[in-house]
Amino acid sequence: MTILPALLQVRQLYDSDPSMFKAAGSQAARLSGLGRTMTIAGTVVFIIVMAILLFAMWRRRNEPAVDGPPLPVNETAWVLYGGAAIPALILAGIFFLTLGAFRSSRLPADPALTIEVIGHQWWWEVRYPGQQVETANEIHLPVGQPVKILLRSADVIHSFWVPNLAGKTDVIPGHENATWLEADGAGTWRGECAEYCGMQHAHMALSVVAQPAGDFARWIRNERAAAVAPSDSGVLEGMHTFLNAQCVYCHTVRGTQATGTVGPDLTHFASRLTIASGTLPNTRGNLGGWILNPDRVKPGTKMPAVQLSGGELQAILAYLETLR
Ligand code: CUA
Repeated sequence: MTILPALLQVRQLYDSDPSMFKAAGSQAARLSGLGRTMTIAGTVVFIIVMAILLFAMWRRRNEPAVDGPPLPVNETAWVLYGGAAIPALILAGIFFLTLGAFRSSRLPADPALTIEVIGHQWWWEVRYPGQQVETANEIHLPVGQPVKILLRSADVIHSFWVPNLAGKTDVIPGHENATWLEADGAGTWRGECAEYCGMQHAHMALSVVAQPAGDFARWIRNERAAAVAPSDSGVLEGMHTFLNAQCVYCHTVRGTQATGTVGPDLTHFASRLTIASGTLPNTRGNLGGWILNPDRVKPGTKMPAVQLSGGELQAILAYLETLR
């Protein structure tokens, strides 16, 4: 029997993270309610249809086959009601429930904050307009407040999806889309790119961190500031190594001569949870491996390998770790 493993797998999917069934915000709550209703309705219909099918097979076995004469009226009624009328009714019900969910998930008129999110192959640029904050692969927002997300693409079509907080919205080149997020409580959720966008589509994740208002304001203040100047001689050496390496052609560290805009802004890199767009936790070991051979972590990535001696790598790592 393959049905038990299949059911266990469904259960596992239901429990895994991120999950649209574990709503952590008002928009997600409505969508997951709709998802649940549709799942239950689909299951009930499936069970009834299968039961009728089994019954028909059983009856045919026990009755002599009939050839020729048309179906009696009561059996064409099965086709009319079972095949057209009842499905039309169920689908109409789901259609109106869906319209209701769309209506109630419309962007609130007065969002507390607007955040720009730009999809790149394969990472997310995150900006807070008017606040001089620029980061990557991580969105911070205040708890309990609707936040508008403006979506743009730098290259191909991506799709922005944070299942625990909201439905997905496509990110389309040459067009600005908008969605919104609202988290009921503090927490961190994983978002994904939900539209195939090339080789590393699967490694295009982001974290959404909802914080109480005070913590969020502190985070914004810290992000807005330029990078801390090194006080330690080892770190200073790391900074010089970084500024003389090819890193500066693609990355910005505000407050230094590094002003590249191809890759993520690294001004407060050390405070981020992950590297390579949710691919690895932000640890020194992972970062070292990523810098020396990015293609091994994420084949096809636009980040080139950097030729460094052991000492140069350690110096750069020591410097990057101070960019909190
Ligand atoms: Cu970006 Cu898939």
